[in-house]
Amino acid sequence: MKIIGTGSALPKKVVTNDMLAEFLDTSDEWIVTRTGIKSRHVITDEHLEDLGAEAVLKALEMSGLQPSDIDFFVCSNVISEYVTPGLSCVIAEKVGLTCPMIDINCACPGFVYALDIVETYYQAGKIKTALIVCAEEPTRMASWQDRGTCILFGDGAGAAVLTAGDNMKGTLLHTEPDVYKIWQLQTLVETPFITKQEQNIPMQLKGREVFRFAVNSGTTQISQLLQDLGIALDEVSWILVHQANQRIIDSIVEYLGVPASKFPVNIADHGNTSSASCPILLDECNRKGMFKPGDIVVFSAFGAGLLSATSVMEW
Ligand code: ACO
Repeated sequence: MKIIGTGSALPKKVVTNDMLAEFLDTSDEWIVTRTGIKSRHVITDEHLEDLGAEAVLKALEMSGLQPSDIDFFVCSNVISEYVTPGLSCVIAEKVGLTCPMIDINCACPGFVYALDIVETYYQAGKIKTALIVCAEEPTRMASWQDRGTCILFGDGAGAAVLTAGDNMKGTLLHTEPDVYKIWQLQTLVETPFITKQEQNIPMQLKGREVFRFAVNSGTTQISQLLQDLGIALDEVSWILVHQANQRIIDSIVEYLGVPASKFPVNIADHGNTSSASCPILLDECNRKGMFKPGDIVVFSAFGAGLLSATSVMEW
């Protein structure tokens, strides 16, 4: 498939590191040095489905397609106010999509998983157009008393419209099941029959171990996939890495030995927006006119699971 439209949407409230330091034992200096994050957009009165719908409508507008032209809709989301129906259906009703649709929860690599799913449907001859939205509110997952997690996240949505084309060159998906590196628990509705204990536990993160997994999976997968495809690293125009920590991105740059200028970043202003991170960055770069036909663009992301995913596409 081929990307012909991108869109993104962010909540209006911008929370700076200094604002966090008003109620947490932290500082702008610590957060910037350890993560590269200066501020993030945080949901206040917005609903996530409205951000998702805004991103979808912007992507559709750029593509020139109507909702009725879309054959398949994939929504990537970790948490939202809706348990059911899937967020895809909630967003679809807002924008007028009526095609088959699915929701995936592949944590932060959700956009790359979604690219692989739509490409597989396309190769099977089932679809000619597709729409992906990644809508995330990870600021509702961490405890705002936990300075080690809540400082990392921001909210937002990113979308992409795809149509027929042989631009997707390949994808590598990788899983190392290890739940208690990044996890969160919530209690469910009580019944007269439940005898087990359930707990609400906000997001827990083994930061250093996730850091190592991110750098290792990013460098290994990017090198492996390019080698499998017979594409040299210096033929790659852009590498869009999940925006979780500037130091993770810097380490991948160093290990790969690629100029940092090939790695666009927006983490300073957005923080980690989970699976929305790659498509928001994609949309911002696309609207700046950074991608030229024939450019080789790599996406690479990692997250809870532990999951990681990398894909290569020609623009
Ligand atoms: N302000 C000040 N001090 C802090 C803060 C803070 N916000 N947070 C932690 N500290 C302290 C710790 O308490 C610790 O103090 P101690 O030495 O007295 O015990 C010290 O700073 C070092 O803490 P570490 O956790 O070891 O710091 P580290 O350098 O590893 O940075 C971080 C932590 C930023 C979380 C880093 O490990 C990281 O980015 N890991 C990857 C996280 C990630 O990307 N997760 C994916 C998220 S899941 C998803 O994407 C949805």
